[in-house]
Amino acid sequence: MSVTIVTQRLTATGVDYADLATHVRCHGPLPTADAAQIIDTVESSGLTGRGGAAFPTGRKLRTVAGNARRSGAVVIANGCEGEPASAKDRSLLLKAPHAVLDGITLAARAVRAERAYLCIHEDQSELRNTLRRAFSERVAAGTPDVDTAVVEVPNRYVASEESSLVHLLNGGPALPLYTPPRPFERGVRGRPTLVDNVETLGQLALVVRHGAAWFRTAGTPDAPGTALVTVAGAVAAPGVYEIGLGVSGADLLAVAGGPTEHLGAVLAGGYFGAWLRADRFAAAPISPRGLHAAGAAMGAGVFLALPAASCGLAETARVARYLADQSAKQCGPCLNGLPALADALAALAVRGGGRGPGTIAALSPYVVGRGACHHPDGAVRLIGSALTEFADDVRSHSERGPCQGLRRTPILPLPAKV
Ligand SMILES: Cc1cc2nc3c(=O)[nH]c(=O)nc-3n(C[C@H](O)[C@H](O)[C@H](O)COP(=O)(O)O)c2cc1C
Ligand code: SF4
Repeated sequence: MSVTIVTQRLTATGVDYADLATHVRCHGPLPTADAAQIIDTVESSGLTGRGGAAFPTGRKLRTVAGNARRSGAVVIANGCEGEPASAKDRSLLLKAPHAVLDGITLAARAVRAERAYLCIHEDQSELRNTLRRAFSERVAAGTPDVDTAVVEVPNRYVASEESSLVHLLNGGPALPLYTPPRPFERGVRGRPTLVDNVETLGQLALVVRHGAAWFRTAGTPDAPGTALVTVAGAVAAPGVYEIGLGVSGADLLAVAGGPTEHLGAVLAGGYFGAWLRADRFAAAPISPRGLHAAGAAMGAGVFLALPAASCGLAETARVARYLADQSAKQCGPCLNGLPALADALAALAVRGGGRGPGTIAALSPYVVGRGACHHPDGAVRLIGSALTEFADDVRSHSERGPCQGLRRTPILPLPAKV
């Protein structure tokens, strides 16, 4: 089947900032659909969450709406974009904030929420100003919106996990909560809480406007629609692109201008994702199912191209250390397991010697699935994929010590504070 590579839907206006008039001219007014129509349409569209786990959005809406029959619900739009390499949510909020604000209002209508929160990371004055401008345009136009507050969230990796956001909005620290209850059962002020990524909400608004059949005209039957992706690393035109799901990895790299040098691997799915050797990535379909079958993940749509001359083990070791430092250190796997895994990988990458792979293999089972949130699972997946995809490097580091790639400038970005 042929798949359209670049399809501009969320980014259709093509301007740097789509004010409300431009947004309505391009997409039409806010739909008047009722709760049942919204949920049915989103369910039939096959839209899945764009925040990392690709959970079916319609199913989540229906569950929260059912749980909220008596109490009413709360909506959280997750615009924190905790993945250091991701730029898609910020780019969407800066260019097309009304797409997301439409989605928040429609989702709130579907689950009968009278209150919504748009969560962003702190210290983003440009984004705050843009949102302020967008809200005032809506108030001036009399758009019937749900009452929405913008909330600033500490700039830490685990602070944007959904139960962390609920914890914060209930007056606690932005740390993951031990489960259950999950937010969709009992969240903000004890109410069932719908947490959706901001891109998901922007997509939801288009689905409700144009219908499920329209949504499915992009993408593939098992991965309908478009997705915003961030492509960076050794490509000629790094950036955020809107692609039809199901395109091949080779096409995705071509969209971003193509590789700037011979590639060894691509990190698919961000820091909770996995490495794929360049040839395997080129053939993989860019969709949650396609990447899962290849051994990686779609995650929040981050793709980082690594030159063959770089050291994938050293790159992964830096990120493993970052993930260990970012954990909330509330549970054993994060407190003890992640630092030990990061140490073992760093020793292999920087000093060489044969003990690292054995230590990692022995520790990993004690870390996976044992935290209150999925933070340690993501870190272990990334480290495990490095040992598999860079198996030749593991052997040569073990036998002959570190490689020349260590001298190259790192490709994987980390926040400046770390
Ligand atoms: C450690 C951690 C960090 C996360 N950070 C984000 C984030 O920055 N933005 C986001 O949308 N989802 C993030 N998620 C996923 C959220 O918990 C939640 O599943 C998501 O916001 C749901 O939206 P969706 O169904 O639209 O994808 C994170 C999950 C984990 C485990
Ligand atoms: S698993 Fe790690 S990040 Fe998640 S709650 Fe426990 S200590 Fe915090």
